[in-house]
Amino acid sequence: MGSKTHISVKNLSIWYGRHQALNNISIDIPDKKITAIIGPSGCGKTTLLKSFNRLIDLQDGVSVGGRVLVDGEDIYAPEIEVTRLRKKMGLLFQRPQVLPMSIYDNVAYGPRIHGIKDKKKLDGIVERYLKESSLWTEVKSRLHSSASKLSIGQQQRLCLARGLAIEPEAILGDEPTSALDPVSAERIEQRLLDIKNQYTIVLVTHILRQARRLADYIVFLYLGNLIEHGPAEKIFNDPQDTRTQAYINGRFS
Ligand SMILES: Nc1ncnc2c1ncn2[C@@H]1O[C@H](COP(=O)(O)OP(=O)(O)OP(=O)(O)O)[C@@H](O)[C@H]1O
Ligand SMILES: [Mg+2]
Repeated sequence: MGSKTHISVKNLSIWYGRHQALNNISIDIPDKKITAIIGPSGCGKTTLLKSFNRLIDLQDGVSVGGRVLVDGEDIYAPEIEVTRLRKKMGLLFQRPQVLPMSIYDNVAYGPRIHGIKDKKKLDGIVERYLKESSLWTEVKSRLHSSASKLSIGQQQRLCLARGLAIEPEAILGDEPTSALDPVSAERIEQRLLDIKNQYTIVLVTHILRQARRLADYIVFLYLGNLIEHGPAEKIFNDPQDTRTQAYINGRFS
């Protein structure tokens, strides 16, 4: 394949105060594929995901050792511009976090920050990304009403549209379907599958069936350690480590 890896983790350790949440993790996240980070509760999935976007060191008392390279740049280097880094990655959280403004303004938010003012252009962007998130037909007649009036499932699709509108390289999702009803969850999953050739997608999930449905690549963490990683087929059909075997067979969760 030879595509360049734009997220590469090298000997990453993260501590919350004296508690070590990640222990010497090294992985390359494949480009333009869906990678699922799996593992039992508390194993460090969210911590690892947040480290890709410098969301982790916002908190007091967090220390980071090792490196995360994005497009070859060490994002923990002092000269890095966090805003420029964040523009490369769209984020989806467990609960959709719409901005307290209209549906239109939510999608236009990022492009406006990046200097796009022309109304026609913004209209086009809003329509395009609402379509890509399969929300357009449901909201096109009420673009200027408040985003918080949407259902939770619609709000999560709006968050996807808002993330895509910044034209990121990667989409990071922390259990993005876990607060959704099954139909909304399926719609988000379907959108992620539809767009995966265009973006590097990293999803934290504790739903093994979801990882099987979506992931090309699996990262299995246990107690802050990277136990096994590789193509999904290999991890699910022929896991090497007994802890991976136990986890994917549902023997602990
Ligand atoms: N802000 C924090 N301060 C102190 N400890 C934290 C903080 N955030 C996470 N931890 C601890 O770090 C470890 C890893 O947490 P993390 O949230 O990354 O796990 P997770 O795999 O995402 O779990 P879950 O599946 O429950 O979401 C846990 O032991 C957790 O208690
Ligand atoms: Mg988590």
